[in-house]
Amino acid sequence: MYTRWHHCQITTMAGGRYNLIPHGELLSAGPQIVWVGEAGHAPDLPVSRRVDLQGRLVTPGLVDCHTHAVFGGHRGAEFEQRLQGASYADIAAAGGGIASTVRATRAASEQQLLDCALKRINALRQEGVVALEIKSGYGLDLDSERAMLRVIRRIAALLPLTVRSTCLAAHALPPEYQQRADDWIDYVCRQLLPTLHREGLVDAVDAFCEHLAFSPAQVARVFDTARELGLPVKLHAEQLSRQHGAALAARYRALSADHLEYLCEEDIGLMAAQGTVAVLLPGAYYFLKETQPPPLDLLRQYGVPVAIATDMNPGTSPVLSLRLMMNMACTLFGMTPEEALAGVTLFAARALGLEERYGSLEAGKEASFVAWDIQHPAELSYWLGGTLSKQVIYQGKEVYRDSTL
Ligand code: NIG
Ligand code: FE
Repeated sequence: MYTRWHHCQITTMAGGRYNLIPHGELLSAGPQIVWVGEAGHAPDLPVSRRVDLQGRLVTPGLVDCHTHAVFGGHRGAEFEQRLQGASYADIAAAGGGIASTVRATRAASEQQLLDCALKRINALRQEGVVALEIKSGYGLDLDSERAMLRVIRRIAALLPLTVRSTCLAAHALPPEYQQRADDWIDYVCRQLLPTLHREGLVDAVDAFCEHLAFSPAQVARVFDTARELGLPVKLHAEQLSRQHGAALAARYRALSADHLEYLCEEDIGLMAAQGTVAVLLPGAYYFLKETQPPPLDLLRQYGVPVAIATDMNPGTSPVLSLRLMMNMACTLFGMTPEEALAGVTLFAARALGLEERYGSLEAGKEASFVAWDIQHPAELSYWLGGTLSKQVIYQGKEVYRDSTL
């Protein structure tokens, strides 16, 4: 039996463009889209339910393709230190930074980790997010990484949204391995990753390639292990300095390379050739007061697909709003609102390997969409703060509606 969603404008985002249909209609069967197009042109199918969307603007459900939403504690005190002049690298070198969140995460129970992550993820859900990625990487020993990944799986079981879990064991050196980075990488490759993969907890593998984290050679070892296990890879690359991690990511056919402020043209060419998505994280750029923006014009010139994400994390991007990231991608990086919307739909879905199901409204994909009480899709990047009234449909069912509707 079919559901007919009618009386709406539709922004399909097929091919990453608005493709605005002013008088649109969508037919779904169970969780799937059967047809999208102009009202009055739908195929003749036995419709059992009609939903009047009251003239709202429909977009694909949003996808947040890079978060660290599960962690213990917060880093408000480091924010104060940074406002007084300390740099992110200074704080990390003094034992703060990622290491301080590792301490708080290890000290928390799974239930505590779950409870605070749910609050943050609910903020995203209420903004129209239907799929997201969550990384581990604040446990940095087998049991604590397992706890984080189990919490990620529990979130997926509890909430109506799709969650990809990424193992980021190569995020920072655990305190037990100071000065022994190669030994940690050895352990990650021989023990940690294979074990957590065997337990069914890992969908993808990430690493932090940076002068204050891991070298390209160390990351390559992690990627070799991921390849042996049949897991896709992605990389935190060129965030604080140029390490050519993006080139490495492209060589391993990574789903995405993320951050990319210090990305160079040659590596952009490699990403384009391998289909690696560039994930830009304006929250971290803003929060660290970075002054070098990612090379957007070159990314455009080479035709690299660009996604936008929150990078929700306690250290560099305590961001609870994906729409705010769309705005910052426009104001800080020079993206157009259409590119920003493609960046949180089609290309974000591609960065998670979920393009078959999410990212655009087309027959065969999931009926996971948002009906916004706005007139034009550019408004999604335009309004700052607060909420926009909306209803969120996930796999053919309404899962959220603002009381203001
Ligand atoms: O995406 N770059 C590495 N990881 C995080 C920051 C983690 C932290 O400081 O807690 C990021 O920016
Ligand atoms: Fe990150």
